[in-house]
Amino acid sequence: MSSQESCVADQKIEDRQKIAIVTGGTGGIGFATSKGLAAQGYNLILGYYSDSENAKKCEQELKTDFKIQVRTIGGDVCEEDTVNSYFKCLNEMNGTLTAIVHTAGLYTPDSVSKNPDTHFTTFETYDYFQNIYPKCFIRLVETGMKLMEDGYGYIVCLSSPGCNINDQTRLGYMMPGTGKCVLEYLSRHYAKMLAKRRITCNCIVPGYIHTKPWKQLEAKLGPDIGCVRTPMGRWGQPEEVGDFISYLCSPKASFLTGATIPFDGGLSLGK
Ligand SMILES: NC(=O)c1ccc[n+]([C@@H]2O[C@H](COP(=O)([O-])OP(=O)(O)OC[C@H]3O[C@@H](n4cnc5c(N)ncnc54)[C@H](OP(=O)(O)O)[C@@H]3O)[C@@H](O)[C@H]2O)c1
Repeated sequence: MSSQESCVADQKIEDRQKIAIVTGGTGGIGFATSKGLAAQGYNLILGYYSDSENAKKCEQELKTDFKIQVRTIGGDVCEEDTVNSYFKCLNEMNGTLTAIVHTAGLYTPDSVSKNPDTHFTTFETYDYFQNIYPKCFIRLVETGMKLMEDGYGYIVCLSSPGCNINDQTRLGYMMPGTGKCVLEYLSRHYAKMLAKRRITCNCIVPGYIHTKPWKQLEAKLGPDIGCVRTPMGRWGQPEEVGDFISYLCSPKASFLTGATIPFDGGLSLGK
């Protein structure tokens, strides 16, 4: 390809109507990611669970600030129908699926075991985390990859500290952890499988990021919990993670794939 032809191709890429599906796209890290993607000109399909008032607010803010198309879709990502409804919406929009970001998830006091004798709780809980993390991700990627253009596809999922061999095992986190570590495996699996098509797949491992679930826990655990446990001595902000995820969903990161990246102020290094 001559340099002139290459310029024309680049122009075409710029003109493409990129669409991103972001699960949990109206939550803390998810909404910060949505803003980063919107700034790159992505049109957005944002999944949320039940907070429709917040979803409407997020949708309006993105439309006003970035002049993009935004659709918000409620429902539990554990359900196949919810994931199908993202793709149904995609069909109705004008553009090409370019990014999938799976951030939907939760951190609640109930998701962490308090029983030091056995951190296993129930298979119902185990299944819940398998559904919300790996099963949802498989559904998204198995359908989404067929719709992505070779050379222009970016897939990102989110794990949690303690779910890979480079980090200390967190015993109380057994139930969500068994779902998150499968996500980490899947991100490498899809990275390898899609490398020939030059579609990337990466996994981010955020540390203590100051989102709503933590703000709610502060009353109980103290406002400094994220600072005390992080070597850098401060909370991470959702915008910091969101900007990094949106960078991963851009041509600037097109040679980065199959990585599981701590984004945690040094948490994975230990104190
Ligand atoms: N914050 C941290 O310190 C931290 C650290 C490590 C990993 N992470 C991971 O980062 C991701 C985002 O965390 P966050 O702190 O941004 O959480 P958040 O502020 O609570 O946002 C979570 C988002 O996910 C949606 N959601 C939750 N359960 C869902 C379900 N079953 N079906 C569909 N959507 C669902 C929520 O929708 P509604 O608003 O409608 O409920 C919300 O939009 C999670 O996977 C979490 O495990 C976070």
